[in-house]
Amino acid sequence: MTEQRDPGFFQTIYSARALRRFKPDPIPEDVLFQVMDAAIRAPSGQNAQDWRFLLIRDAHVKAKLQEWALEGWERYRSRFGDDAAIDALPRSQRLSLRSVEHLAHHLAQVPVMVLVLGLAGRHSTPGGSAFPAVQNLLLAARAQGLGGSIFNLPLGHREELYELLGIPENNQAYCLLPLGYPTDRHGPLKRKPVAEVVFDDGWGKRWAFAEQQPREGWQERWLGAD
Ligand SMILES: Cc1cc2nc3c(=O)[nH]c(=O)nc-3n(C[C@H](O)[C@H](O)[C@H](O)COP(=O)(O)O)c2cc1C
Repeated sequence: MTEQRDPGFFQTIYSARALRRFKPDPIPEDVLFQVMDAAIRAPSGQNAQDWRFLLIRDAHVKAKLQEWALEGWERYRSRFGDDAAIDALPRSQRLSLRSVEHLAHHLAQVPVMVLVLGLAGRHSTPGGSAFPAVQNLLLAARAQGLGGSIFNLPLGHREELYELLGIPENNQAYCLLPLGYPTDRHGPLKRKPVAEVVFDDGWGKRWAFAEQQPREGWQERWLGAD
């Protein structure tokens, strides 16, 4: 068995940021199994578990996904303008976009991608029965020292994708998760403060306790000097 120290629940949550640059190292089968075995512990409506997870490791399929990701990236980047316009964006947005660009250009070298699917029309809140498993998967990946993120840029070619992977028409592809050992560091996460997004007994009513906490929340408590 591959040894990996479990960082613990809160450290895992507070440091599981979107990572999009990977070493070429393969993911051992037991590590991947642990990730998938944690993913399927998630809840789903009526415990239907109609989710399906397609592991993508075949070089030809990965190359096709990279080709589509680059198309998706070109469309997406046109929202921001040319390279100079991207360079002028605030630091965190610029770094995030550059990492998306990097992944689009290197997708075929990512060791494993997981395509997350579910039965179309099965649930009243589409995605509600797939994304809890996605988050379990990403947290389990983080706990195992892997990095990943949702990365849907390659999913623009539905028909070809379904044909290529033999996916039945009654399935909906929810997202693609490239996974690998990251070259960037895990966490911390930049989020709006609890006090801004949690209301107390009525829309817009501030929660007094949260107002007294640091704006960056309790990240220090879990990440320390990491
Ligand atoms: C529904 C959903 C769709 C997303 N789609 C993409 C995507 O297509 N490409 C991408 O690079 N990241 C995608 N992401 C990742 C988000 O951009 C990322 O989680 C968010 O910016 C927070 O990043 P951080 O955890 O590194 O702070 C998606 C996330 C969610 C929840």
